[in-house]
Amino acid sequence: NWTTGNVIEEQVAAIREQVGDKRAICGLSGGVDSAVAAALVQKAIGSQLTCVYVDHGLMRKGETEQVEKDFVAATGVQLKVVDASERFLNALAGVTDPEEKRKIIGREFIRVFEQAQAEIIADEGPAVEFLVQGTLYPDVVESGGGTGTANIKSHHNVGGLPEDLEFKLIEPLRKLFKDEVRMVGKELGLPEEIVQRQPFPGPGLGIRIVGEVTKERLDLLREADAIAREELTAAGLDRDIWQCPVVLLADVRSVGVQGDGRTYGHPIVLRPVSSEDAMTADWSRLPYDVLARISTRITNEVKDVNRVVLDVTSKPPGTIEWE
Ligand code: XMP
Repeated sequence: NWTTGNVIEEQVAAIREQVGDKRAICGLSGGVDSAVAAALVQKAIGSQLTCVYVDHGLMRKGETEQVEKDFVAATGVQLKVVDASERFLNALAGVTDPEEKRKIIGREFIRVFEQAQAEIIADEGPAVEFLVQGTLYPDVVESGGGTGTANIKSHHNVGGLPEDLEFKLIEPLRKLFKDEVRMVGKELGLPEEIVQRQPFPGPGLGIRIVGEVTKERLDLLREADAIAREELTAAGLDRDIWQCPVVLLADVRSVGVQGDGRTYGHPIVLRPVSSEDAMTADWSRLPYDVLARISTRITNEVKDVNRVVLDVTSKPPGTIEWE
């Protein structure tokens, strides 16, 4: 019979057995999965674990701080932070194709992560043998690992598998769905704001800008996203929606009027969805007054945005993310 207590006990024992007196590394993405995986491994092997957080500059407002401060405070985990935002922006310059963006972000991520790993190994010696991954059951299935289905989008997970993998993997969440992972995280004592955090893709805001990713566009999208999240939280809707991607259509402009002038700005798309496991999803029927507040605030407060549109497509046929 399935209980969070059983899952934790089983995994802790298995991880201890697997790791022995060696050391492990875990990449933190800011999301629930890697946080819970890290907390689980931390519970099993304590200071034999070192976490790495690569700041790719594609995070939402406040998320990096949440990892650096709140997660460390909650778990006492050893954390190495690498600021690589310049590098990612340079690599993404001029790129608009979604799959190419995903590949570049995944590739750069692995490079930066491997460099951090090398530094940790230099500090801690050859006992570093294991890599922790927050792979969930749906990731296994969608990447073709479970059922042989085609790869829909090249899923990028933290510390995604390099070709010449020299680590043994620890994947304590491989059999779990998202809601189960949240329960395990809660049982492990992680703060509510981390455990209840909605899913956020590894490539971050890089795949929520339709068009080229630039610093200015990222800053703009961060503002719009922060407003949407603030209003959804204030309305008490966080538990009702699975996630709400906020997308900037950077390659689209439309005419508007603001104050006493014509504007020619970009649309922001709100993509609130309800889902059990992200394999399928329905668009959330958000209250009109909440949508109105988000729309008013975004068009008033975010420079160059003069229109807010709502995505009313289920998955399938639409995916949750736009890229
Ligand atoms: P889609 O867009 O395929 O997304 O319907 C399904 C779920 O997966 C998240 N997502 C990702 N998560 N790396 C991740 O870790 C990725 O590359 C990635 N792409 C999409 C998405 O936010 C949704 O929850």
